[in-house]
Amino acid sequence: MRNDVPNSWQARAEAATFYGFTDLPTLAERGTVVLTHGEGAHVVDTEGRRYLDANAGLWNMVAGFDHPDLIAAAKAQYDRLPGYHAFFGRMSDATVELSERLTALAPFDGGRVFYTNSGSEANDTLVKMLWFLSAAEGRPLRRKILTRVNGYHGVTVAATSMTGKPYNRVFGLPLPGFLHLTCPHYWREGRAGESEAQFTARLAAELEEVIEREGAGSIAAFVAEPVLGAGGVIPPPEGYFQAIQPVLAAHGIPLVADEVICGFGRTGALWGAETYGFTPDAVIASKAMTAGYFPMGAVILGPDLAARLTRAAEGIEEFPHGFTASGHPVGSAVALAAIDLIVDGGLMAQAQALIPRFEAGLAGFADHPNVGEVRGKGLMGALEVVADRESRAAIPNIGERVANAAMDRGLICRPIGPAIVLCPPFILSEGEMDGMFATLRDALDAALGEAIA
Ligand SMILES: Cc1ncc(COP(=O)(O)O)c(C=O)c1O
Repeated sequence: MRNDVPNSWQARAEAATFYGFTDLPTLAERGTVVLTHGEGAHVVDTEGRRYLDANAGLWNMVAGFDHPDLIAAAKAQYDRLPGYHAFFGRMSDATVELSERLTALAPFDGGRVFYTNSGSEANDTLVKMLWFLSAAEGRPLRRKILTRVNGYHGVTVAATSMTGKPYNRVFGLPLPGFLHLTCPHYWREGRAGESEAQFTARLAAELEEVIEREGAGSIAAFVAEPVLGAGGVIPPPEGYFQAIQPVLAAHGIPLVADEVICGFGRTGALWGAETYGFTPDAVIASKAMTAGYFPMGAVILGPDLAARLTRAAEGIEEFPHGFTASGHPVGSAVALAAIDLIVDGGLMAQAQALIPRFEAGLAGFADHPNVGEVRGKGLMGALEVVADRESRAAIPNIGERVANAAMDRGLICRPIGPAIVLCPPFILSEGEMDGMFATLRDALDAALGEAIA
């Protein structure tokens, strides 16, 4: 709630901050929530209010907000080597260990890792790698990048261009050569009388047509989230990756899995690609890789791209790209600890054990008259709020209203258009999960009551 006391945390935040991804009318009405600390799956604000964060920060805080192992790993690394880079053939020992761990866990053998500070930078790096490769292999026109409408790949200039969201028109983006195919959302995009299998076949045919039209020799890659996250948690239709991968392979176009959200357990397996039974040519990782305790991203190149890029770099004696904090030692140590926790320490098993309860909780909304679709995979899910299930018409601003009502009840959940998205930390207790759904139902009904009144 707004607190207009001069010199309050809210007033200080608002006087000194230029906000991004924040609805400014809502901010004006409700004010900034300034957080002081975390307790398990909860965050606490300057007024002492506790919120269950059902979005795990931004999908990333899978171990909650106070995990001792991650904090200890960071402290120990700060004591040893608190910062370094990965230029000029130098890097920290923790970075070497992390690369070994990531290549061992990657959904292919013989990969290689390049580090960034974020998922956006990892996607940008991937695009530069592909453009570099095209030039080095004597195919300079092979530069186009295919993604999907509603796919989210980040905010740097190339990643923004990959992102299929209409709001990026305000930046005059996408850049030419970034093409967005149909969003693979059967409920929204399926045609009357079209089965899910027919929808999948139509998307594969569209891909083939786009490749024919643009010319296979002009396309550098197809990049896809296994489950679209910021598009509103959209799992692919049945058989999607099995249908599109042969089309790409027939034209020699790499399939890159943007695993920034799906990676490290979110869909119930280590990688979204594993959940959907395909082997990508490269993986983009970030978020849960450090459980959100350090900003870090990575491009994990599969064996073919790794070998070709290595040859291309040798051809001009270097790959001229990197960030000051690429492969940061503290990030590397935290990532190693996070991966230990997820893979060996039982955190992914904990997530897997929660999935049936999560699915049942979501399914509990399926017959709500204002929920048009309930969807999800693993520990990520969404409810699509509609005026009625027949017309599927939108209720103005309903997503924001539900999220605000939830916030007033101590629950953080995210509106994406008319959808409410949940992707809780893996450490949630069963009781907390039940409370999350009960609060959401209460918030949904309160917001609907207000919106429809
Ligand atoms: C699938 C996906 N790719 C890339 C990004 C961009 O990552 P970052 O915000 O770390 O730049 C995100 C962020 O949410 C994402 O969900």
